[in-house]
Amino acid sequence: MAGYRNKGNPGLMGWIDDRFPATAMWEDHLSKYYAPKNFNFWYFFGSLAMLVLVNQILTGVWLTMNYNPSAEGAFDSIEYIMRDVDYGWLLRYMHSTGASAFFAVVYLHMFRGMLYGSYRKPRELVWLFGMTIYLALMAEAFMGYLLPWGQMSYWGAQVIVSLFSAVPVIGEDLSLWIRGDYLISGVTLNRFFSLHVVALPIVLLALVVLHIIALHEVGSNNPDGIEIKENKDENGVPVDGIPFHPYYSVKDIVGVVVFLFVFCLIIFFFPEGGGYFIEAPNFEPANPLKTPPHIAPVW
Ligand code: HEM
Repeated sequence: MAGYRNKGNPGLMGWIDDRFPATAMWEDHLSKYYAPKNFNFWYFFGSLAMLVLVNQILTGVWLTMNYNPSAEGAFDSIEYIMRDVDYGWLLRYMHSTGASAFFAVVYLHMFRGMLYGSYRKPRELVWLFGMTIYLALMAEAFMGYLLPWGQMSYWGAQVIVSLFSAVPVIGEDLSLWIRGDYLISGVTLNRFFSLHVVALPIVLLALVVLHIIALHEVGSNNPDGIEIKENKDENGVPVDGIPFHPYYSVKDIVGVVVFLFVFCLIIFFFPEGGGYFIEAPNFEPANPLKTPPHIAPVW
């Protein structure tokens, strides 16, 4: 018996469709998902956020292969990744620059939402899922920042965890609960590692899926605020819409190329953003006389 949503495909695809709605999902969300004709560049940032998410997950998996989540070994394992692991420096810079790019892209994405009123009816849930993604993203980035276990990580964590102690009544207990210790220690490092690598990525992925399902239920807004579902032809196709694939999947490639230019420029030329990290592989101070002795490089 043909599957409930079999689209009549022959061969292997038909066999799969009898058991899993692969073609139906492709059509519902891509080739027969109608999006407004008038998207402008602001609509690049949703797909760019997805690209950066994939980059973070892939580079994160490879970094984890060589990272040691212990107070004794964390910093050394970062040095090992930067100096000895094949292309480890590239993986690390893709991940750290990727984290900053994630925020840049998501801020522009949110700004577009506010610019065109995309948070209003019927897209309230798209917006609320987005806000939750943003909170999870901040937690994810904060916990990742502790992992190199350097001075910046340690004191950064100290500042942010201390903020929670300002909460009336429960503040002190709350920050103790977050740290898992009376001061930021290996216990804190271990739990931040676990949350950064396992729990929060799962939460983020799930929220992105919910964000897209909610969006595809109501359809995208657009710069002119036209609700394309209100004007359909005799076949039920929105007159002011075009199929997402191939029109926008191809258009998004333009955004991806521009984004990758900027991203590569930063990764290969300014990965530390003018900061001063001793773990850079080819560290060469511009003026050795100005190098503060306490952070002199280890040759
Ligand atoms: C991991 C982070 C995120 C991903 C991967 C993501 C992905 C997407 C994608 C692919 C779209 C459709 C394409 C587009 O309209 O650009 C979209 C739309 C939307 N997103 Fe996000 N998003 C993220 C975070 C957020 C955040 C933080 C907010 C707001 C707080 C948000 C609010 C919206 C809204 C309101 C729309 C509908 C826009 C419209 O139809 O005009 N998103 N998102």
